Amino acid sequence: MKIKEELNSGRLAEASEDKYKCDKCKDMGYIEVLTDTGYEVYKPCTCQIKKQNEINMKRANYKKAFEDKDFNNFIAYNKGTEALKEACKSFANQDEARALLLLGNVGSGKTHLAVATLKEFARNNYMVNAINYTELVRKLSSVGNDQEAYYNIIGRYISACVLLLDDLFKGNVSQANIKQMYELINKRYEDNKFTIITSEYNFEGLLSLDEAIASRLGQMTKNTYLLNITKLENYRLKKF
Ligand SMILES: Nc1ncnc2c1ncn2[C@@H]1O[C@H](COP(=O)(O)OP(=O)(O)O)[C@@H](O)[C@H]1O
Ligand SMILES: [Mg+2]
Ligand SMILES: [Zn+2]
Repeated sequence: MKIKEELNSGRLAEASEDKYKCDKCKDMGYIEVLTDTGYEVYKPCTCQIKKQNEINMKRANYKKAFEDKDFNNFIAYNKGTEALKEACKSFANQDEARALLLLGNVGSGKTHLAVATLKEFARNNYMVNAINYTELVRKLSSVGNDQEAYYNIIGRYISACVLLLDDLFKGNVSQANIKQMYELINKRYEDNKFTIITSEYNFEGLLSLDEAIASRLGQMTKNTYLLNITKLENYRLKKF
């Protein structure tokens, strides 16, 4: 009787084909795929990726800082900005380069383009994450000698398929900060992951701060995605 009641109360209906929130994985959160070599492996379903991306973006202050930034409201007001926008778009739709460097002065649209690029990756079903550099080093420094807490934090950003690291090396840069960023960037380099970086430093500035970090990033751009936007006019001051 109890079972019958349960069945009648909608549990069965909930489990029937057309009641799944995601038809692709039948709400399991993962799908089975066959590898080239014939093995069955489990992959997170796109519904799972979307859910995780929302959590990550919320943590990165998505609403406040990111919501209104996308390619469709980035105004290409001259040939240079048009080319920048196209380069960023193409970065999210290629598989050779692993870093997009947007270097330039405050207000030139670096964060706007970086966020738009991250959203393009998310639309392409990549697991994405974002963090502001100052926020990240503050978090990492706050844990002191607690290694577990340290790797809990940095691990989140090491493991993201696509990471936006905004305003790299803003403010005073300590040796500890350089070490932290080396660990993050070198690991992402080794793991062949996509990294989007904005910074007020130009590439020479990054090299003189730390050659190991800058040269890895340079390599990851494949000489295609090192974009210098210092020479553009400041959008905030520009009248249309
Ligand atoms: N070409 C552009 N079209 C539309 N909005 C822009 C453009 N460039 C900058 N902005 C806007 O100006 C503000 C500052 O840009 P932002 O990307 O934060 O600059 P940066 O990160 O280089 O300091 C943001 O609100 C951004 O959306
Ligand atoms: Mg910015
Ligand atoms: Zn699904």
